[in-house]
Amino acid sequence: MSNQSGIGVAFTGSGSAAPEAVLDNENMSRVVETSDEWIASRTGIHQRHLAAPGESLKQFAAQAAQNALNMAGISAADVDLIILATSTADDLFGSASQIQMAIGAHRAAAFDLTAACSGFVFGMVTAAQYIRTGAYQTVLLIGADVLSRWVDWGDRRTCVLFGDGAGAVVMQASSVGDRLLGFELRSDGSLSNYLTLAHEGQPRELVDDVAIGQGSYQPIQMNGQEVYRFAVRKVPEVIEKALFRANLTVEQIDWLLLHQANQRILDAVADRLALPKEKVISNMARYGNTSAASIPIALDEAVRAEHLKPGDVIASAGFGAGMSWGAAIFQWGK
Ligand code: UT7
Repeated sequence: MSNQSGIGVAFTGSGSAAPEAVLDNENMSRVVETSDEWIASRTGIHQRHLAAPGESLKQFAAQAAQNALNMAGISAADVDLIILATSTADDLFGSASQIQMAIGAHRAAAFDLTAACSGFVFGMVTAAQYIRTGAYQTVLLIGADVLSRWVDWGDRRTCVLFGDGAGAVVMQASSVGDRLLGFELRSDGSLSNYLTLAHEGQPRELVDDVAIGQGSYQPIQMNGQEVYRFAVRKVPEVIEKALFRANLTVEQIDWLLLHQANQRILDAVADRLALPKEKVISNMARYGNTSAASIPIALDEAVRAEHLKPGDVIASAGFGAGMSWGAAIFQWGK
């Protein structure tokens, strides 16, 4: 993708972290009426990591961030900007600055970005803009979610799907090329009722003629079949658009790295793009759907296992509540 400044983006480090506690499908069937057979065959999920009561989003995000900084070989003091993609901040005012403090990135500005399961891709594109304009040299992009706080643990149609975790990448200015090759971001608020974690307020009159609505957020509600159909239709489309912008063809993709929502969605998208299964990165068997964290956790594991090598072309796409969806075609490495 062209940019006028001549400054490109490089991906120099990745990291991830997840809670220690694991709930496998067998134990899940003690929480709701379900079975390992149903969950594994319909979703590909075998277990998920769940945050314990005293654990925080900040803690996993900071650990993932530190691991990414270590891989990049830089210190927290080098970070100019922290973007935290999350829908489940510890504090509704934002958790990014608490992570900034936890890792000691004293110089960095920090903010939260919410685009549900598309948050990491939206965050990557946002980070790239700051770098390409020359405003910032080093951006720490974190995707982290603790959806277990907001799942309806009595609803077997949703509670079996989600897990908790965090992933991070370091994105840095480069004068030798731009590793973010193309992207396409989309939103459609007319479909927002497919997947919600909505605030519900009860009216409270403060004085005559002035009332406010005060309440709390309601557990996740999802129309699974509609979200499934939406993902299988829209994700290949948005990847093709991003490829077009990158001036690349499907054959040039080394890895398909989708939001880890359902193995059947990954398989269906790969089929539609005519991509062989060997190119599909999947770790949802071990994590379930970790929302904004799913892409960077899977990325980090692939990098550390040395499956994914510098220069490899990755087609990544997020999709979820909003509805929001988006694709980014990028090359791993400096
Ligand atoms: O990050 C956000 C993105 N979210 C997604 O991508 C989710 C997309 N949707 C999906 O992945 C799938 O729609 C699900 C995995 C959520 C559901 O799979 P499905 O094949 O669409 O199942 P279904 O909702 O059509 O339900 C089939 C049957 C129903 O029973 P009846 O009505 O046919 O008797 C459900 O009650 O399976 C039943 N069921 C379950 N049974 C055992 C639903 N959940 C469960 C369960 N265990 N956990």
